[in-house]
Amino acid sequence: MNTSIEERTRRTRWFSHDRFGMFIHWGIYSIPARGEWVRSREQISVEDYQPFFEEFNPVFFDAKKWARLAREAGMKYAVLTAKHHDGFCLFDSALTDYKATNTPCGRDLVREYVEAFRAEGLKVGLYYSLLDWHHPDYPHYGDRHHPMRNHPECFNENRDFSRYLEYMHGQVRELLTNYGKIDIMWFDFSYPGMECETWKATELVEMARSLQPDLIIDNRLEGSGEKSGTIMTKNPSVYAGDFACPEQMIPPRGMVDEDGDPIPWEACITMNDNWGYCSSDHHFKSSRMLIRSLVECVSKGGNLLLNVGPDAKGRIPDESVAILKDFAAWMKDNSDSIYGCGYSELPKPEWGRFTQKGKKLYAHIYEECMGAICLPGLAGKVDHLRLLKDGCELKITEFWNIKEYPNDAFFFLSTSRNLTFPLPDEKDTVVEITLK
Ligand code: GLC
Repeated sequence: MNTSIEERTRRTRWFSHDRFGMFIHWGIYSIPARGEWVRSREQISVEDYQPFFEEFNPVFFDAKKWARLAREAGMKYAVLTAKHHDGFCLFDSALTDYKATNTPCGRDLVREYVEAFRAEGLKVGLYYSLLDWHHPDYPHYGDRHHPMRNHPECFNENRDFSRYLEYMHGQVRELLTNYGKIDIMWFDFSYPGMECETWKATELVEMARSLQPDLIIDNRLEGSGEKSGTIMTKNPSVYAGDFACPEQMIPPRGMVDEDGDPIPWEACITMNDNWGYCSSDHHFKSSRMLIRSLVECVSKGGNLLLNVGPDAKGRIPDESVAILKDFAAWMKDNSDSIYGCGYSELPKPEWGRFTQKGKKLYAHIYEECMGAICLPGLAGKVDHLRLLKDGCELKITEFWNIKEYPNDAFFFLSTSRNLTFPLPDEKDTVVEITLK
């Protein structure tokens, strides 16, 4: 195996074990509360966006509370937007005045986040936007996304992109120097004409790794949610990243390279339809759907990075808190079927999904079955069965009506009565199967 792939496997070992993290999109865009792209979507000038900077004061922000919520939900790591596309910095950068410490908030929010999440035992990641709609040297007119893209008067003649690169590299250096150990750097994102060495990506990655040798990096110096880049090949570039990050979808067959070997990946998913706080968006997925999404990711060898978008006062929306509490309850009973697990060689069963860790096969049962629950092809291969939630014994059955299926194993959800419904947990009932 190519050494860079071996290195990647080594660096991502914890990541591929932990499986579940929290994404946090937060910034002054939580005041207009129409998502983090509001400046671009509504083509708002820097002057018209300024009031939100002058006003930003998240009086209820409590990083410890967020960290506890994440840990209790079973999340093992988190990624916070240190700077999003609008250029506003949640950290006390020496390279700009456009930062939280200069707003009424007056606090280094990245520091509080890093300390609180680390104290709860979570790994910490930072999202850093490659795009910057505030920096004067970032292309304005004619750019694909810049709020001023349609303004010829914002021509780019006196803009010096190399000055922007110096700023961007300088900020990454600050983030990787001033906050102790950082576990993930989540760059976002590349687009045609703005990718790879446009960012001086080799230099950036080498600098990042010289400061934090164990750091894992996403694949968006080369790509985006649209295109994963050379991480999908056997010859990844220096800046190909350590994991792929499909966005708002779960890849149909997991993610593998050109030879069919699995690569680390993480699906990032919002709970409603926005990353940043959006006051009118109450279109939240059910916790059942989100728990099943986590299981789906794991069953395909990937991770789930589930987003919250705190409001302008610094609070995670109630709907999100409720979802996280449902995760907490489910993970308390079932996390053995998530951590350290991956895809199973068995095909997806009719009634749900499988995850697997060595000899432990986890049946995630979503659908009520008519008659005994079938484990296709597992006749004679099961040592014992337990309901994961309480460890209670379940048994392979020899019931009279399954005799025509000698290759399959079957079981009921009780050893005293031949029950298959109602499922003990309608979100996902997990049965632990110990294989021989
Ligand atoms: C996108 C968006 C962005 C969000 C990110 C999360 O690329 O630009 O707003 O932060 O995806 O994956």
